[in-house]
Amino acid sequence: MRKLTVMDTSALILKIKRYNPEKDPPRWTETFNVETKKGMNLLEALLRIQDEQDPTLSFRYSCRGAVCGSCAMKVNGKLVLACRTPVEGLLGETTLIEPLPFFPVIRDLIVDMSLFFEHYRGIEPYLHGKPIPSDCEYMMMESERKEIDPYIQCILCGICFGVCPAFGRDAQFLGPAILAKAYRFLRDPRDRREKEILNGVNDHRGVWGCNTVFQCVKACPKEVPPTHAIVKMRGRILRYRFTSLFSRFLSMSRRIGSR
Ligand code: SF4
Ligand code: FES
Repeated sequence: MRKLTVMDTSALILKIKRYNPEKDPPRWTETFNVETKKGMNLLEALLRIQDEQDPTLSFRYSCRGAVCGSCAMKVNGKLVLACRTPVEGLLGETTLIEPLPFFPVIRDLIVDMSLFFEHYRGIEPYLHGKPIPSDCEYMMMESERKEIDPYIQCILCGICFGVCPAFGRDAQFLGPAILAKAYRFLRDPRDRREKEILNGVNDHRGVWGCNTVFQCVKACPKEVPPTHAIVKMRGRILRYRFTSLFSRFLSMSRRIGSR
């Protein structure tokens, strides 16, 4: 490996939070100097450490192209996808790498996302189509598709959960990605569950638990805007409440008028 000097601005120094429940102590921090090459990203640097320095270093990855969502981690306090983070911006200073916050750590940078996927499965994230004749197709206007487009981009990386104060406070909060997905099906004209979806998110575990601080929108690597979805669902719930109050008031006044 290349020898590093104190002022070496091309050096990649990664200080990684490690965890192995079978070791004593189970938690420690370890620093690795990594030889870089042009165009290298952080995931490649971690793979290089695994190949050349410590095969026990554990982290998740699969696609290497910002598609599978498995390489999310905290880098110098910011949540990113490692495969999308060029090392150029990290050279010359020590870079601190930590696992995604708010999830239990299994090993090194690997976290247990069971709760995330439990919440995800809970909203049944697939189309519940409206009944149509067997010789017809489901139709969708271009404008309707545009409304749900940003939410389709989600890769389930969990970064929005790691920056969400509401999820940090209460693990039962459904979380930004899940509420964004609920909105995606709510606005899909082919899905028949409008009321069911709104009922499912109409409490403190759902849209009313969000602090609307837009951290998820800022952090999402795929530009999904979960807070916008949450605000729109709140608006829809309030409109329903108002309409039902108004019609109750109307029928009451009619009853009184007919006496
Ligand atoms: S909404 Fe964005 S940050 Fe959240 S899981 Fe989906 S892609 Fe990741
Ligand atoms: S390896 Fe798939 S998103 Fe990074």
